[in-house]
Amino acid sequence: MNILAIESSCDETAVAVVRDGRNLLADCIASQVDIHRLYGGVVPEIASRKHVEAIYPLAEEALKTAGLTRRDVDAVAVTFAPGLIGAVLVGVNFAKAAALTLGVPLIPVHHIRGHIAANYLTHPDLEPPFLCLVVSGGHTMLVDVRDYTEMEILGGTRDDAAGECFDKIARVLGMPYPGGAALDRRSQAGDPKRYPMPKVRVDGNPLDLSFSGLKTAAINLIHNAAQKGETLEIPDLCASVSQAVSDALTTRAALALRQTGRTTLAVAGGVAANSRIRADLTVLAEQTGVRLCLPELRFCGDNGAMIGAQAYYEYLAGHTADMTLNAYATKSMIGEQLS
Ligand code: KG4
Ligand code: ZN
Repeated sequence: MNILAIESSCDETAVAVVRDGRNLLADCIASQVDIHRLYGGVVPEIASRKHVEAIYPLAEEALKTAGLTRRDVDAVAVTFAPGLIGAVLVGVNFAKAAALTLGVPLIPVHHIRGHIAANYLTHPDLEPPFLCLVVSGGHTMLVDVRDYTEMEILGGTRDDAAGECFDKIARVLGMPYPGGAALDRRSQAGDPKRYPMPKVRVDGNPLDLSFSGLKTAAINLIHNAAQKGETLEIPDLCASVSQAVSDALTTRAALALRQTGRTTLAVAGGVAANSRIRADLTVLAEQTGVRLCLPELRFCGDNGAMIGAQAYYEYLAGHTADMTLNAYATKSMIGEQLS
């Protein structure tokens, strides 16, 4: 089954062609990062306009790359939530029009379910059940993936997401948007013990997290040093922040593994590219005898391939939509069935 998959929830227009959920035939991306960098963050109206310009030629390019014609498309999939509403709307309306004109099913895909499914492309033998640590710019949570379309959120951040925490600290350090990857690069030569950071702690669910305290502590450190005319060792600061984020995530992942008894841990989302988090989770997996699945770097950030991968399983579960499909900014139905 050839699925034409559309992703437009933030600042990347992406169209992929995926066969039977696992076989990637084309993965085309038009990134807008250079434009939004001028403003220090994503400007929603600009994002929507750029999606409008990019989406049709990108779909044509994806089919050409896959060596397919429109008649070979068996279904159209699209991210319907969550995301910037204007941006998601562009993808949803394009997908509706494409499905209608091609006379094929329309498959709505939750963006986070897509991130999780990126692992199916990198690890062809991976099958649920498994535990997934989702770490993106907007989400941080531990998900029990019971089946391809049956998931439960076990815990997550009460405030900032891990990516947001990295990006905000990177911005104060003068790194270009989105700063997570730059902060990661600078951290590599740094001493993670140089600047002690507060431990991430919340009351209640031990699998929950909070990154706002850590973010504020790091930003205060930078501002105080500037006021006193002191020079900070930037690689050391980046390493200290990365270690604190990684410690918070790794301890939650370890606890969730113990609680659920799952023997496979997958990681998903843009922050899954972080070198310290990848290294620390690798150690955790070795110590606990758990299988660790990390997505290839090209499937960590937003892409169409992950949407096409998840769409296949949504289709098998009967989760298709008609022309009344809507776009949602915040719909958090990762654990629920689509109606
Ligand atoms: O999953 P994603 O592409 O978009 C959302 O769905 O939010 O994640 C983007 C986030 C950004 O915050 C970006 O700074 C972060 O992923 N990111 C990283 C790294 N590469 C991307 N954060 C830390 N280390 C990295 N290497
Ligand atoms: Zn994403």
